[in-house]
Amino acid sequence: MYSSLRILLYTTLTVLPVLVSGQLNDLAQRRGKLYFGTETETWEFNDTTYLSHLNNVREFGALVPGNSMKWEVIQPGRYEWNFTLADQIVDLAEHNGQHMRCHNLVWHEQLPGWLVNGTWGKENLTAVMIDHVVREVTHYKGKCYAWDVVNEVLNDDPNNGTLRSDMWLDIIGPEYIAIAFEHAARADPHAKLYYNEYDIEFKGPKHDGAMKVVKMIQDAGVRIDGIGFESHFTPSTAPGLQEQMDCMKDFTDLGLELAVTELDVRILLPDSPEELEQQETVYVDTVEACMNTEKCVGMTVWDFWDQNSWIGPLTWDLYYNGYGEADLYFANWTRKPAYTGIESALKHRPSHW
Ligand SMILES: *[C@@H]1O[C@H](CO)[C@@H](O)[C@H](O)[C@H]1NC(C)=O
Ligand SMILES: *[C@@H]1O[C@H](CO)[C@@H](O)[C@H](O)[C@H]1NC(C)=O
Ligand SMILES: *[C@@H]1O[C@H](CO)[C@@H](O)[C@H](O)[C@H]1NC(C)=O
Ligand SMILES: *[C@@H]1O[C@H](CO)[C@@H](O)[C@H](O)[C@H]1NC(C)=O
Ligand SMILES: *[C@@H]1O[C@H](CO)[C@@H](O)[C@H](O)[C@H]1NC(C)=O
Ligand SMILES: *[C@@H]1O[C@H](CO)[C@@H](O)[C@H](O)[C@H]1NC(C)=O
Repeated sequence: MYSSLRILLYTTLTVLPVLVSGQLNDLAQRRGKLYFGTETETWEFNDTTYLSHLNNVREFGALVPGNSMKWEVIQPGRYEWNFTLADQIVDLAEHNGQHMRCHNLVWHEQLPGWLVNGTWGKENLTAVMIDHVVREVTHYKGKCYAWDVVNEVLNDDPNNGTLRSDMWLDIIGPEYIAIAFEHAARADPHAKLYYNEYDIEFKGPKHDGAMKVVKMIQDAGVRIDGIGFESHFTPSTAPGLQEQMDCMKDFTDLGLELAVTELDVRILLPDSPEELEQQETVYVDTVEACMNTEKCVGMTVWDFWDQNSWIGPLTWDLYYNGYGEADLYFANWTRKPAYTGIESALKHRPSHW
């Protein structure tokens, strides 16, 4: 009786907390990284299990809002500003002792109607862009480890590699990018300023185009600190470990730090043990590429629970028709092989990491 009670107590007090509480951030920090983080949104805070994982700083050392800092939310009218939702995420991170990745300032999507449908010339659109950048960065001054200043400025096609035709490029010209960085730098001299992009994690014209964008900013004499590798992958197309490391080196050779910013690995449904294993390989390769790259400061997953992922079919967003289960936890909160794979890689890989 006594010994089984002792075993029960032992189990409850020591084993269970270890089993139910994750430690990916602790493990990454012990290997010299600044954080292992996650994307989140305020609408997810109503789920107590989700929230307890989110609040666990041993698991997640950085938060990034999925939508709350985007233009249509922050500046819904020309003279209207609304920081309500993003403030809740920043306050939570502050309370938990987590870093903030702040995302994003200038993008071609999720823009408000007054902006998209307005009549603009170069002069007044530049002024509107600067006003937005300065106000938003100033509001969060001192609270963001990093800002994604520009997002996805290249054409979608990985074989293209040229700047995307959108209102910024078409009306202001390519210099809109350096102007945005210049004013973000003035508004918060201590935030790391990033260019965030996807499909640059493998070699090709888009990867090369992103390097040209970095050089263009540097040639303008303007500060850029980092490059974000979004890393939305699927097993059949994901780059392997070596290719990811080579691509990271291309950017760190330009003097930048780097972060994996939106990692998730969608699989074709229904899942199978083979697919879950391939998914694990992609997650682990990506984490290893960052661990092997000294100037890769951290990794962020684009949420951690299938139930809330932006990738269908468990959510409203069926953008990737037929794909799903992209995150580290199944909808029933079971950890995926990808989760345990990352954990074990962070624990057991050689110490030269
Ligand atoms: C939380 O809110 C979301 C979105 O409104 C909803 O779909 C979900 O059912 C809610 N969850 C709980 C536990 O109330
Ligand atoms: C600001 O946004 C919040 C959250 O979406 C909303 O509840 C509130 O009404 C908005 N405030 C104004 C003044 O529109
Ligand atoms: C811009 O105007 C068009 C036509 O009126 C409308 O369909 C569209 O929704 C507007 N864009 C935004 C972002 O509101
Ligand atoms: C912006 O400037 C253009 C001329 O370059 C003008 O036609 C337009 O009305 C201005 N837009 C606003 C909203 O003031
Ligand atoms: C890249 O895409 C744009 C827009 O679709 C197109 O105009 C341009 O010709 C393409 N350039 C190359 C090099 O493929
Ligand atoms: C959780 O869901 C996954 C995917 O549907 C399934 O394979 C697994 O058996 C479930 N685990 C439990 C404990 O129900």
